[in-house]
Amino acid sequence: MVNYKDLGLVNTREMFAKAVDGGYAIPAFNFNNMEQLQAIIKACAETKSPVILQVSSGARKYANQTLLRYMAEGAVEYAKELGWEHPQICLHLDHGDTFELCKSCVDFGFSSVMIDGSSLPYEENIALTKKVVEYAHQYDVTVEAELGVLAGVEDDVVAEESHYTKPEEVIDFATRTGCDSLAISIGTSHGAYKFKPEQCTRDPKTGKLVPPPLAFNVLEEVEKKLPGFPIVLHGSSSVPQEYVDIINTHGGNLPDAVGIPEDQLRKAAKSAVCKINIDSDSRLAFTAAVRKVLAEKPGEFDPRKYCGPARDEMVKLYKHKIIEVLGSDGKAE
Ligand code: 13P
Repeated sequence: MVNYKDLGLVNTREMFAKAVDGGYAIPAFNFNNMEQLQAIIKACAETKSPVILQVSSGARKYANQTLLRYMAEGAVEYAKELGWEHPQICLHLDHGDTFELCKSCVDFGFSSVMIDGSSLPYEENIALTKKVVEYAHQYDVTVEAELGVLAGVEDDVVAEESHYTKPEEVIDFATRTGCDSLAISIGTSHGAYKFKPEQCTRDPKTGKLVPPPLAFNVLEEVEKKLPGFPIVLHGSSSVPQEYVDIINTHGGNLPDAVGIPEDQLRKAAKSAVCKINIDSDSRLAFTAAVRKVLAEKPGEFDPRKYCGPARDEMVKLYKHKIIEVLGSDGKAE
């Protein structure tokens, strides 16, 4: 058993309380490899932003849970080396689907876990979430739960259709489970294809898809029911069209990829939404940079020569999100 406090990590409690009060959101960035982690830490150290490092079940399979945990421990030291005196770094399990998985992460040094029972019947979601909360809270590990269903594909999580969170359920759910934060469904979805073309309109000038707006009315209802309670938005990549274009003009094929416009995320970050999950945008930044180098220099075979530029591109992306979208810069001096 390792407690996250011994690793220099923090849970989400204080981060979220400050974010709700301050009208900003904490970035929750997924990582699967060293370059992503380096980029996240560099961007957060340079902007002094608190951060949630997310490990999904796909990341555990790809990179190994043990390795990822030691990488997160190393990240705290790396942050200090970069001159960030008091790094606020949380290590979070993204989309845990069983009690056993959440327990294993708590026992292994994670400071926060998500139990995603959103695909279960309501009472089963409550029972599972409560069981995880009771275990995790013994070690001061915070727990995120989910109500409502997000569409899209994220590693092992696949849902064809979304169902908005029902505001009339949130008080009962939060009270009976004791969860520390709640992910809700208001129209975001996982992946780079968040909307089907028929759900969007097309910009007549660019021909690009314009997605439908998020259901802010649902968010407002939830906020009224649970004032000051930390709300989480999954599936919040914006799918920057410049990356999609670089990928498509350098041998890739991402037709009609579309995300959540940043102005909507900015608006959400000012509300009770205090954690915004971003994974796909980092994958796009990485892929765009790698494709560009390899297309321009077909003789290149040193991974550092294409992973290095990919890492630089991700630093730019993360800083942009922190400063221009979430407003979390300077909140962890
Ligand atoms: P995106 O696919 O929009 O980046 O969402 C990631 C996410 O919600 C991780 O849980």
